[in-house]
Amino acid sequence: MSNQHNKGISRRSLIKGAGAAAGLAAAGSIVPSRFAMAAAHGNKAPVKVGILLPYSGTYAMLGNSITDAMKLRIAAAGDMLGGRPVEYVAIDSEMSVPKAPQNTSKLVDKDQVDILVGPVHSGIAAAMAKIVGKRKQPIMIVPNAGSNAVTGPLCAPNIFRTSFSNWQPAYPGGTQMAKDGHKTCVTIAWKYAAGRQMMDAGADAFTKGGGKVIKDIEVPFPDVEFQAFLSEIAALKPDAVFAFFSGGGATKFLKDYAAAGLKSIPLYGPGFLTEGVAKAAGEAAEGVRTTLHYSADLDNPSNVAFRTAYEKATGRVANVFAVQGYDAGSLIVQAMAAVRGDTGATADIISAMENANFIDSPRGPWKMSKAHNPIQNIYLREVRSGAQKFLGVAAEGLEDPATGCKMA
Ligand code: BEZ
Repeated sequence: MSNQHNKGISRRSLIKGAGAAAGLAAAGSIVPSRFAMAAAHGNKAPVKVGILLPYSGTYAMLGNSITDAMKLRIAAAGDMLGGRPVEYVAIDSEMSVPKAPQNTSKLVDKDQVDILVGPVHSGIAAAMAKIVGKRKQPIMIVPNAGSNAVTGPLCAPNIFRTSFSNWQPAYPGGTQMAKDGHKTCVTIAWKYAAGRQMMDAGADAFTKGGGKVIKDIEVPFPDVEFQAFLSEIAALKPDAVFAFFSGGGATKFLKDYAAAGLKSIPLYGPGFLTEGVAKAAGEAAEGVRTTLHYSADLDNPSNVAFRTAYEKATGRVANVFAVQGYDAGSLIVQAMAAVRGDTGATADIISAMENANFIDSPRGPWKMSKAHNPIQNIYLREVRSGAQKFLGVAAEGLEDPATGCKMA
């Protein structure tokens, strides 16, 4: 289903927020490199940015947050990419893995996008990477999906990620559970690559810290019927529970967990469990400890400016998905400036992206790894009074192992 995304944010709001974002963006922009000398003089045709993100279903909030923040960052650059206007072509991924090849081909072959931004879902990311990684163009930027494979065996020169690998936020979460003195845990997650990879990473760290996983529960994606699984957890009586759900499903899980009387068993997980849903989950989210590469209360000037701009533009509170979208926009702006809009200069665009400057990211400074995945801090947070409370740095400058990545 084709969907010109813009339900969440009007152009007028974008311009309003973009003014506030411009200061932050200016601080992070780079001086056009030597490649600028080989500029695409006079080409005023739009740079086409294809978007494959979810705008319906349980991950709709994630897709909207990413899209709005990416557009906000590009609007702060005057809606120009290396001197050329920008044109967006968006498709609702519907979180459908079977439709991913067809949706990708539509954007790449029919619409001939210069840059492809997406997806949210790890299974779709792998399907897209298999297609895009075999080609020279377009450049693909993953603004959420954590599939380890995308910056592992499927890594490719033209694939970049501004979010995380599934291993990254999960491993420190397992370490934290053990540090907090828990000896046994149950893992529960949606049954697909993201859930499996995050639970494996968390369990690995928990075990290394002296803990024992007594049961792995897998819930079909994107089901939200949790009752039977929660009864099983109650019977098992673990010291702690480690969970991955996100978006609408996470809200439902948190509420059901509390309603089942399980709040006495501490709940942990990669930060997606409470990100963007803490308010909606209300009392049920209180005290839930998570690890993630962002916390909305991070006290750095870039984050304060970003939060203000995002809220002004969208009327919503900033979250990690918005930050990942904002940084995807920043990556595009910087690379296009470096080649002065020459979308054919693939090698130079790749080089500019590899060396892009994220000193002023709202999440704190980060840089691209050799596998094109962020090397970044992971923060420990806890929900207090409906918002994330930053408790400390759980892992500093954490780099994904990128197992199996052989960059051509
Ligand atoms: C994933 O499928 O990779 C994913 C989806 C939502 C939140 C985090 C990861």
